[in-house]
Amino acid sequence: MIQIEKLKKSFRTEEVETLALNNVNLKVETGEFVAIMGPSGCGKSTLLNIIGMLDNPNEGYYHFDGQEVGGLKENQRTKIRKGNLGFVFQSFNLIDELTVFENVELPLIYLNVKKSEREQKVRQVLERMKIAHREKHFPQQLSGGQQQRVAIARAVVTNPKLILADEPTGNLDSKNGIEVMNLLTELNQEGTTIVMVTHSDRDSHYAHRVINLFDGQIVTESQNRAIGVQL
Ligand SMILES: Nc1ncnc2c1ncn2[C@@H]1O[C@H](COP(=O)(O)OP(=O)(O)O)[C@@H](O)[C@H]1O
Ligand SMILES: [Mg+2]
Repeated sequence: MIQIEKLKKSFRTEEVETLALNNVNLKVETGEFVAIMGPSGCGKSTLLNIIGMLDNPNEGYYHFDGQEVGGLKENQRTKIRKGNLGFVFQSFNLIDELTVFENVELPLIYLNVKKSEREQKVRQVLERMKIAHREKHFPQQLSGGQQQRVAIARAVVTNPKLILADEPTGNLDSKNGIEVMNLLTELNQEGTTIVMVTHSDRDSHYAHRVINLFDGQIVTESQNRAIGVQL
């Protein structure tokens, strides 16, 4: 699904140029669950954002489902993103002015799904994430764990091939964190490919494979023996 070769990304500010990714090679097969780990500032989010087509690399190749996407313009990337990719972030990134229902409905509006179908899909995914009883609430009226379940509902309502998660349990207590990891594992077992950035050793055990980044480079890769373990 993902094939990245000799990828480089640098950021230029007024005085300095930071090389965030330096010659990264990475393959992710359909159906895999991959964790990316490494110290703060090593390039994890930059890599995830490029995989998620939120940003372009400076050099190298990125093939998504056989198509070169690293050099696409923003509007072309948006087109591929919609429907194919779902995002989950540490800070949930829900829209405060919209209700739970409306937050989850938004990606379907972008895809021009008609109203009756939207309602059915949103209700179904809210049930599944056990948050249907809060559909009229606003994000600020929910606990962190509930907000992340809404964010996951929003990420999966379009039935994406790939879910990208950047420290999805970073702001959660361990009970809610484990619940989120179990939800991601379930989605993976149904065939959704997952790439997740994490600081947590516990969370990394849910992945099939762990990639360690250091200073913008992949330094080690390890295969987890137990696949999809439930703690
Ligand atoms: N938009 C940006 N502008 C300038 N520098 C950035 C930007 N995004 C990331 N960086 C720099 O790139 C490096 C990698 O950042 P990041 O990918 O966010 O690391 P991580 O997620 O592993 O903590 C850091 O040195 C960071 O300061
Ligand atoms: Mg980060």
